[in-house]
Amino acid sequence: MSASSLEPAFADSLLNEWLSGMGLGVEYVRAEGNTLYYLDENGQEVPVLDHACGFGSLIFGHHHPEIVAHAKSALDTQYPVHAQLSVQSHANRIATKLNEIIHRETGTNEPYSAVFANSGAEAIEICMKHAELERQGRIAELTAEITAHLDEAREAVRAGSATVADDAIVVASGRGAHDFESLIAEIERRNAERLAQPPVYLTLEGAFHGKLVGSIQLTQNEQWRAPFTSLASSARFVPVDQPEVLAKIIEDERKSLYDVVVEAGVVRVVERDFPAVGAFFVEPIRGGAGMKPVTAEFAREIEKVCEALGCPLVVDEVQSGMGRSGAFLASSHMGLRGDYYTLAKSIGGGIAKNSVVLVRQDRFRPEFEVIHSSTFAKDGFSGAIALKVLDMLEADDGRAYRLAAERGERLIAMLNAVRADFPEVLKEVWGLGLMLAVELQDQSNAASEIIREKAQSGVLGFLIAGYILREHRIRVLPAGPGWNFVRFEPSIYLTDEDIERTEAALRSVCTVLRDGDGKRLVP
Ligand code: F0G
Repeated sequence: MSASSLEPAFADSLLNEWLSGMGLGVEYVRAEGNTLYYLDENGQEVPVLDHACGFGSLIFGHHHPEIVAHAKSALDTQYPVHAQLSVQSHANRIATKLNEIIHRETGTNEPYSAVFANSGAEAIEICMKHAELERQGRIAELTAEITAHLDEAREAVRAGSATVADDAIVVASGRGAHDFESLIAEIERRNAERLAQPPVYLTLEGAFHGKLVGSIQLTQNEQWRAPFTSLASSARFVPVDQPEVLAKIIEDERKSLYDVVVEAGVVRVVERDFPAVGAFFVEPIRGGAGMKPVTAEFAREIEKVCEALGCPLVVDEVQSGMGRSGAFLASSHMGLRGDYYTLAKSIGGGIAKNSVVLVRQDRFRPEFEVIHSSTFAKDGFSGAIALKVLDMLEADDGRAYRLAAERGERLIAMLNAVRADFPEVLKEVWGLGLMLAVELQDQSNAASEIIREKAQSGVLGFLIAGYILREHRIRVLPAGPGWNFVRFEPSIYLTDEDIERTEAALRSVCTVLRDGDGKRLVP
């Protein structure tokens, strides 16, 4: 079942050992549809029903024959994979298709410009970069206006046509308001201090937006984020469904620059809104929180925050998008409208690496096309696959979306039925469409020592996954805080029989947990 221990280990040695300890140290040799295969001791293939499906990147399953055939034909026709800095019309075809789909689904006709990347985290970092370009543009306009106003005021004071307002002393910190030059110096000092501060990003508690230098700061998990806080601008994690906290955030993050106006021969100091927040990143369904969808009411509140702070709303559809929720964009269920959208995972059709950022055209900075690039982004092969995947999603009037919704409902019904029978083990079922998780009851006070200890050390979810694999030939992975959720993200081709098998496996692990039979979980 596992990789040969005779091979020297230069990659994944720690990880593989850990996986083996969880009962997950299996090497798969083939994949097809919802099934992965490993070889038993006799070299025979053993099928495993896959609910992990590439962390939710296989809306059409492993090696879908139409996608594979399309990939082969793209290679056979020798369509250029690499032709950087040339006209790559497939990029525009993908962007056109994405605009059509989003317009249909959101009932708007707002055009979006596309930027391509290779992974989800990279798409997120493109959003950070683009938002910063937007912000710097606004700052440049603002500071140019302030400089012009200071010059005007200086001129008026010099000419004797204006004097400094008495209350300007508040700003000049006691240096004497009538000393015009020291007032100006103080304004410039304070503004320079504000301008030197990096932007803050808003994101939701429990967020997962990737693990690169910038995106890791938008991912709440402390273990992954904390060692790298010095490398990038920080995020503020916003609690979900607490609108009163949002009002406080608006108040806290509303910053200003000092400016002057000359009115009726008096120079007054005024404050101008300063864009201190880079962007608000929102996952419509928070995978890292255990597949929790944002409510429509909270979506409205999020939009209000962006409006009040003048920052773009980035809807991260890396995992929830591409049909998985039962709609192309999960955010369309909540009526959440993004200024930017990110897409990745299933846009690669299970065989390519690809991601896309869409930026509302009235915010898009065209120079970004020149100042940002990546060797592999927008490559012809991934592009051909993306077009095929989009066609497949849209085929038969959106049959794929309907299947995601219908199969998801079946799976949810099953999970709820098991939960009803094992309330002491399963707490709640979360998610939408085929982005689901079942939350376990906290076992950190379980009577069984093994279960208690494993729950306390945060590995119970992995041992459960190992047990389900070993005993039932079904692959699930844990998710969410404390790895205390079991996630289900199969393809739309999940059958009723697959659901029945999954139910039997879940009932068996629930029985083990209910009976405190901890030894059975340890490989
Ligand atoms: N954003 C979201 C919402 C994600 O779920 C992920 C990845 C990323 C960004 C980063 O994408 O891995 O391609 O760089 N989620 C994976 C998961 C890791 O477990 O669901 P990436």
